Amino acid sequence: MVNDIRNVIAFQGVIERSLREKFLAQRSKVFWLTGLSGAGKSTIAHGLEELLFAEGRFAYVFDGDNIRHGLCRDLGFSQEDRKENIRRIAEMLRLFLDAGIICIAAFISPLKKDREMVREIIGSDNFIEIFISCSLAVCEQRDIKGFYKLARAGTIKNYTGVSSPYEPPSFPDLIIETDKTNIKDSILQVYNIAKQQCFF
Ligand code: ADX
Repeated sequence: MVNDIRNVIAFQGVIERSLREKFLAQRSKVFWLTGLSGAGKSTIAHGLEELLFAEGRFAYVFDGDNIRHGLCRDLGFSQEDRKENIRRIAEMLRLFLDAGIICIAAFISPLKKDREMVREIIGSDNFIEIFISCSLAVCEQRDIKGFYKLARAGTIKNYTGVSSPYEPPSFPDLIIETDKTNIKDSILQVYNIAKQQCFF
């Protein structure tokens, strides 16, 4: 049963985001990494988290493979389910932003309109869109999880890039071409934006 939100009044605490950011000595932002499966989103996300930690910053990685084992375990890969997946994640990120944490989100998020929904939910100022670009041929060649092979065989349906669309962002804040850039440099490119945007 859906509750009637007219009967729920949000509670405004005294401790605000700006206070928490001051406490953590950082500004919270969402680094939204979008791209095909196997493009390198998780590798870059975790590498960035490590670098930020080494600098004494509090960051956290949100990863499709993990969230789909918990919060979104009831969802599949139809367009509607992917939208609901992304919507829940965006609402969760809104809370983590308020907590003052630097959020690194790694989700295929294949559709422009769903990524625009994230921007709307969390606010444009908080949203840094990073396109992890890699040709389908290279992703398929890597096929780390073996899912592309299963998708080509028709065992996995609606697989992004094979039997379900991927729309690259038109105006991302950063494009990293992982088929042309090594991992260390890829991570450093996002880290440099984090330094400008999140460090006092
Ligand atoms: S999204 O499209 O809804 O943003 P998400 O990032 O959460 O996807 O999850 C993607 C992960 O689920 C991939 O890394 C892949 O391992 C797995 N997966 C399983 N089935 C599919 C599918 N049909 N399409 C894409 N990824 C899939």
